[in-house]
Amino acid sequence: MDLMIRIDRASQVSLVEQVVLGIREAIENGTLQSGKRLPSTRESARQLGLTRFTVDDAYSRLVGEGYLEARLGSGTYVAQLLRLPRPVGTVPGSDAPPERRLSSWAARLPAEIDPGWSRQPVEFTFASGMPALDRLPLATWRRLIARETRDESARAYSYGPTAGHAALREAIAAYVARARGVTCTPDQVIVTSGAQQSIDLVMRMVLDERSAVVLEDPGYRSLRTIAGLTGATILPVPVDGDGLMVERLPPPSPDLRLACITPSHQYPTGAILPLSRRLELLHWAQEAGVLILEDDYDGELRYDSRPVPALAALASAGNGQHSVIYVGSFSKVLFPSIRLGYLVVPPDLTGPFVRAKAAVERQAPTLSQAAVATFIAEGHFERHLAKMRRLYSARHDALLDAMDTHLAGIAYRDKSMRSAGLHVLARFDVEMTVDELVAHALAHGIALDGSGFCYSSPPAQPHITLGYTVMPEERIRAGIARLAEILS
Ligand SMILES: Cc1ncc(COP(=O)(O)O)c(C=O)c1O
Repeated sequence: MDLMIRIDRASQVSLVEQVVLGIREAIENGTLQSGKRLPSTRESARQLGLTRFTVDDAYSRLVGEGYLEARLGSGTYVAQLLRLPRPVGTVPGSDAPPERRLSSWAARLPAEIDPGWSRQPVEFTFASGMPALDRLPLATWRRLIARETRDESARAYSYGPTAGHAALREAIAAYVARARGVTCTPDQVIVTSGAQQSIDLVMRMVLDERSAVVLEDPGYRSLRTIAGLTGATILPVPVDGDGLMVERLPPPSPDLRLACITPSHQYPTGAILPLSRRLELLHWAQEAGVLILEDDYDGELRYDSRPVPALAALASAGNGQHSVIYVGSFSKVLFPSIRLGYLVVPPDLTGPFVRAKAAVERQAPTLSQAAVATFIAEGHFERHLAKMRRLYSARHDALLDAMDTHLAGIAYRDKSMRSAGLHVLARFDVEMTVDELVAHALAHGIALDGSGFCYSSPPAQPHITLGYTVMPEERIRAGIARLAEILS
């Protein structure tokens, strides 16, 4: 039997390696089948024009890797491999992957899912949900990161507690009390890798195929995606100018487990849930034994007055106490790539949630947690927030002003909405679908975000979440003027 290996003496690859690769490939493609006896090392060396030592070395390596078996006194054989690759000469096309048997979770994945942020630079961007990254206090941030990395104990490089870095949990507990009125102990704070993970954890813990969940309609896409993945029944509840229409909440039922709300700044409409509805909602949750997930993704960003306290701040004895799970995020108030957020959970749920977090992800990164803890404790965070509020307030007003000047009769917004958040929802009275509008604008150097995916049944006219936080005021004005020009 011939080994049929081509030896190239000019190659950079060693002779031993060439023999190993040749035999391995012959076994993998089925030329050399299980149980086949290989020529002796002397014979192979003769065939290949190599020394016995070289062939011997190659055989030994392949024995070590399990491709060959050396049988004492009998020779070297191709090992009995359980899963032998297809034999030579199989039909073309057999390289196609086999039919996959995936989980029901995988089967429920929507065909289209937000693939993440990958935008080409454009002349004008009204992309929503992105803070002003050019205004980050980078010198301070670098100093804090450097301080952590200089720590001789190498703490920043080690594993840390699943529930989060102790100093950060303390800083967050104090911060949510100060800024959002939420009273909790650091034990109730669980640091996550952002609101998205917090939402996933809550839904995994509360929902399954037999349960039902209330979502705002329109609402945040990820909430609907993650809820859909659990297999639970989604009960959309409409939103008006005051946020969730509490009177349209479904009656209590044993299957109804969770209601997900953005009360501080409804996504995407921007409505702020008034006190009367908050109280009704808490009362309903308590009566119905339903947990409320309060997504407070941008609750700090209110410009015309102080931010309203979180819904979790209202929950008290007889008033939905222990009914609210609060979800906070650093994505909008710091920067989204930090991938840090937090949950504030009722005391009895702390243990189960920490175990859940440990099961799906060991912990959030130690280094950035430690840096954020100091960033908050030394007051940099709230100083940055105050600056961003002033900046965004001016940019918000510039957008509204530019819309009134240039887009009258083309784009409409709900004028009762307060000045808050990172975008303004606008309905465009144009003969285009939302995708056509976004593509048309992009072709003229303007990035827009459609919001059709927020609705259980998308509205006939295109709705756009016009983000105003990224560009300075004069660019906002110029961009809106350009948009008006290409739409008239
Ligand atoms: C309604 C809503 N919740 C939460 C988030 C933030 O998610 P994360 O903390 O995962 O970045 C966003 C971001 O766009 C959002 O719009």
